[in-house]
Amino acid sequence: MTTDAQILSALRAAENSGVSGAELSLKLGISRAAIWARIEELRKLGYEIEASPHLGYRLTNDPDVLHADDLVARLGKTQIIGRDIRVFQETTSTNDVVEKLARDGVKEGVVVFAESQTRGRGRLGRKWISPAGKGLWFSILLRPELRPQEATQLTVAAATALWRAIHAETGLHAEIKWPNDILFRGKKVAGILTEMNAELDRVKYLILGVGVDVNQAANEFPPEVRKLATSLRAELGRPLLRAELATAILRELDRDYARVCGGHFAELADEWEERCTTIGQPVTISIGERQIRGHAESLDDDGALLVRTEHGHLERIIGGDVTVEK
Ligand code: BTN
Repeated sequence: MTTDAQILSALRAAENSGVSGAELSLKLGISRAAIWARIEELRKLGYEIEASPHLGYRLTNDPDVLHADDLVARLGKTQIIGRDIRVFQETTSTNDVVEKLARDGVKEGVVVFAESQTRGRGRLGRKWISPAGKGLWFSILLRPELRPQEATQLTVAAATALWRAIHAETGLHAEIKWPNDILFRGKKVAGILTEMNAELDRVKYLILGVGVDVNQAANEFPPEVRKLATSLRAELGRPLLRAELATAILRELDRDYARVCGGHFAELADEWEERCTTIGQPVTISIGERQIRGHAESLDDDGALLVRTEHGHLERIIGGDVTVEK
């Protein structure tokens, strides 16, 4: 952990009782003057840190910023996801940044956040609007030992992890639309873009890109998406601290990634099916020019959607756009 991460971690652990400069200095092995200098830098980032002769330093308010050291301090120890966290103020797409890291041989588990993306992308070539400071836009590098056709398992796992973290942080019950959309009352609040580099029988690396609309007011969405999109703030009626939500998501993702890698996808699939509003519904799937109409029956062992078509065949759907017909 960096010095800032250790300071924030110690301040949070001390809560209201505060921690003295001397204690921090001893714990971190640096001078009190160096501690003071770091505290000043953290204040500049917006952390409200009070200093008093009796209580020492106390963290009294967190800014709604994404700061790599803070994310590391909040997350604590994970198995794989989040052992390296990087934050950009602006980038084209966090998936692009992670792609480059993957090619450079960086270890799996690295997470790249951006406060804003200039060319954020969604599934099926769509644009993903990523305004500064309003949401969570991040990508994770994974190197799972899976066959390419099993990669849907990770998208399903990610949707389940997102559902759980959102529920834990807000108390709200979202819906999952196959394979990866998180919705409230039919409006999308989060999506996942999985991109991979694979050989015929082996995934070389996989990039899990996650976008969550967190703190937009309903009228901040462009008019053309207002009917289709919502934010957690709009659903909850109050803003959220993004760093807290981000670390809750990473913790759940880390757990679910271990489950998929350990061959326990079936457990996750059950949980996913419980939350998924696509199962049991009449659906139309658009795959390029092709459209399949039918009834969504269940999830296959590898995460594919099993659809009974209008002609009575059972089709395995591994991609495309699903519309639930009302
Ligand atoms: C979708 O539902 O279509 C997927 C949306 C994924 C958006 C995220 S934001 C972070 C990462 N970078 C991108 O360019 N896209 C993903």
